[in-house]
Amino acid sequence: MTECQRAFRDALGRFASGVTVVTGLLPNETPVGMTVSAFCSLSLSPPLVLICLDKSTSALESYLDGRWFVVNILGEAQEDLASAFAEVDADRFAGLTYETWDSGCPILCNCLANLECATEAVYPGGDHLIVVGRVARSRWAKDVRPLLHYGGAFAGLADKT
Ligand SMILES: Cc1cc2nc3c(=O)[nH]c(=O)nc-3n(C[C@H](O)[C@H](O)[C@H](O)COP(=O)(O)O)c2cc1C
Repeated sequence: MTECQRAFRDALGRFASGVTVVTGLLPNETPVGMTVSAFCSLSLSPPLVLICLDKSTSALESYLDGRWFVVNILGEAQEDLASAFAEVDADRFAGLTYETWDSGCPILCNCLANLECATEAVYPGGDHLIVVGRVARSRWAKDVRPLLHYGGAFAGLADKT
């Protein structure tokens, strides 16, 4: 990595984000998922969100045209999930219970929010793809605080005094 690339990456790390696990299904119905912080709300009407996925993502096809995916927004107690779903060659669903809605994609339990999306469009974005999802169903939990990511580390929300 060049000095310039490191400075770019470090600068991006100054943007505090939430953390999600995006789940989907392979064509053979095997559940897949990965940690994603590049998530953004896009439109209220129609209800659209977007995620940015590295083109080298192993289960990329699960999230693209004609597919469904779920954005599971993690709570502060779910740092282990965030790490597990970013681990290469791990059995990410081992010991994990989840529910399913209409699409059959895993809805992870105890999250801050879950959004079930149908893939609406996919756009090129350098070494990533911008995947736009139309939200079909969502829920959120009142008493869960967010897991954050800042400066390359997980963090929590501090109350302003
Ligand atoms: C906090 C955090 C945020 C991440 N955000 C993204 C992201 O927005 N997009 C992405 O493609 N990968 C992101 N990753 C990396 C993927 O989760 C990781 O590369 C994962 O192994 C990809 O799944 P795969 O191994 O099945 O290809 C993130 C990892 C962490 C720990």
